[in-house]
Amino acid sequence: MNVIVTGASRGIGRGIATVLAMDGFTVGLLARSGDLLNDVREGIESQGGKSVLATCDLGDYDITVAAIDDLSEQMGGIDALINNAGSVVRKSVLELSVDDWHAMVDTNIHGVFHATKAVLPHLQARGGGRIINLSSISGKYPLPGGSGYAATKYAVTGFSQSIFHELRDQNIQVSTIYPGSVDSQSERHADDSDSSWKVSPEEVGQACAFILKSHSGTVIHEMEIRPLKKGS
Ligand SMILES: NC(=O)c1ccc[n+]([C@@H]2O[C@H](COP(=O)([O-])OP(=O)(O)OC[C@H]3O[C@@H](n4cnc5c(N)ncnc54)[C@H](OP(=O)(O)O)[C@@H]3O)[C@@H](O)[C@H]2O)c1
Repeated sequence: MNVIVTGASRGIGRGIATVLAMDGFTVGLLARSGDLLNDVREGIESQGGKSVLATCDLGDYDITVAAIDDLSEQMGGIDALINNAGSVVRKSVLELSVDDWHAMVDTNIHGVFHATKAVLPHLQARGGGRIINLSSISGKYPLPGGSGYAATKYAVTGFSQSIFHELRDQNIQVSTIYPGSVDSQSERHADDSDSSWKVSPEEVGQACAFILKSHSGTVIHEMEIRPLKKGS
């Protein structure tokens, strides 16, 4: 099965891509940073997995279409898309800048739509396929300290749940994953001294593998993944 993972250069996307490649999937790696994507591809290849890559800013529709067409050609078609790329700015509305807001809307809302729209003709050409959208606990329960991020993740939830209905007759299975705190090792978590209580990116990858391998006549519609314990 050929799967595109957006935001595969680091964090959760890197974990998802690596787990899927080790599980026998051919993975199309997509993000803006070509050098980081190359590192991911080399890591996958050194462990015997298969991946190809393309760089693109998902905020630009034409560039996204070109990158996804390129990945399809390199892989020999597309069976699934994992919309993982996201911009996460956790600030209150008092601190959130206009640029912060636009960066999150461009990637988290426009990017998810652009990648989905670009992939659909490829899935239809195969007679069906799968789409997994990464929302967040913040896209299900309103919490303080990240209102802009929550707004974009509520949009992902709404889009994902709606296209589940729109695409099921096309044999396209749409799933929404809602992670809680994940140890993505990004700079924004640098002040967290202990992140061992968080979910690992690889566990989100295992959840994606489970969804992708589920029966073709069944949809795992939603999955919430949270750490057992709360952070200190
Ligand atoms: N970490 C958590 O605790 C958590 C919890 C719930 C949900 N999530 C969701 O999980 C997803 C991944 O989060 P993360 O923590 O792994 O984030 P991250 O470490 O910041 O990684 C974000 C990824 O998205 C890519 N990206 C960002 N903007 C892009 C754009 N415009 N075009 C193409 N690629 C872009 C980045 O690559 P480049 O910079 O190379 O483009 C990077 O690979 C996000 O959707 C996030 O909302 C995370």
